[in-house]
This record gives sequence, C-alpha cells and structure tokens, in this order.
Amino acid sequence: MCALSNSAPPSYTVKLLVPSDDGQKESEQVVTVGADEHILNAANAQGIVLPAMCRQGRCVTCAGRIVGGEVDNSDADMYFPEDRAAGFVLLCTAKPCSDLTIRTNQQDSMRAHRLALGLPAPYA
Ligand code: FES
Repeated sequence: MCALSNSAPPSYTVKLLVPSDDGQKESEQVVTVGADEHILNAANAQGIVLPAMCRQGRCVTCAGRIVGGEVDNSDADMYFPEDRAAGFVLLCTAKPCSDLTIRTNQQDSMRAHRLALGLPAPYA
C-alpha cells in the first residue's frame, strides 16, 4: 500500500518509456492514472497498448521497471520482495503512489531475474 497521506492527489502522471519492436529506440507516452487505478488499465483506456495476459499479477507479461517513483503492487497474485528491490513492477496490478517513470516491456528481464533467484517465472 502507498504511505497514507490526507493530501494525496486523486491522480498521478505516469511517463511510460516504450521500447520499439527492435529495442533500438524508445518512445515516451504520458498517461494520467488515478490513485486507485491500475496503470495498465489507465494506459489501455488512453490508447496505449502494452503486453499483458493474465491481468492478475501472475504471468509477468506486463512487467515494467521503475525509473523513478513509487507504486503499490499489493493487488498482484504473485509479486516478491525481490521483484520490488530490483525495481520491477507488474503494470496490470500496480497503482501509483507518486508521479512515475516506468520502462515497459521488461518481461524477459523480469523472468531472467526470477530464474536467477530460483523464483517462479511463468512462461520462461
Ligand atoms: S498481465 Fe500477467 S502479470 Fe500482468
């Protein structure tokens, strides 16, 4: 959960760094995400298509990596302290706790991170 604050804003600005298909370039997409909204849903509703399968925080397909800011990923079915420590986020079940910058399409590196630690890595 996000740290409690009586003055928390109702929404945050989330900058998504989206790699091109060949990984050579990155485009920047900015979305507004409600404090009680999952980042993937907000991005989809604002016309940004990102990888996703289960939408329950289990399959790792929607993985991103935090460049700056804080998220609440407690809605995920399977999200480990080690994921958080490494900066990974599951966008389907993550709510913003601050303005954010997140690099998307990180499923391969999150699965490699999980495998290196002996943690479950679906579809690896
Ligand atoms: S879509 Fe499966 S973990 Fe997010």
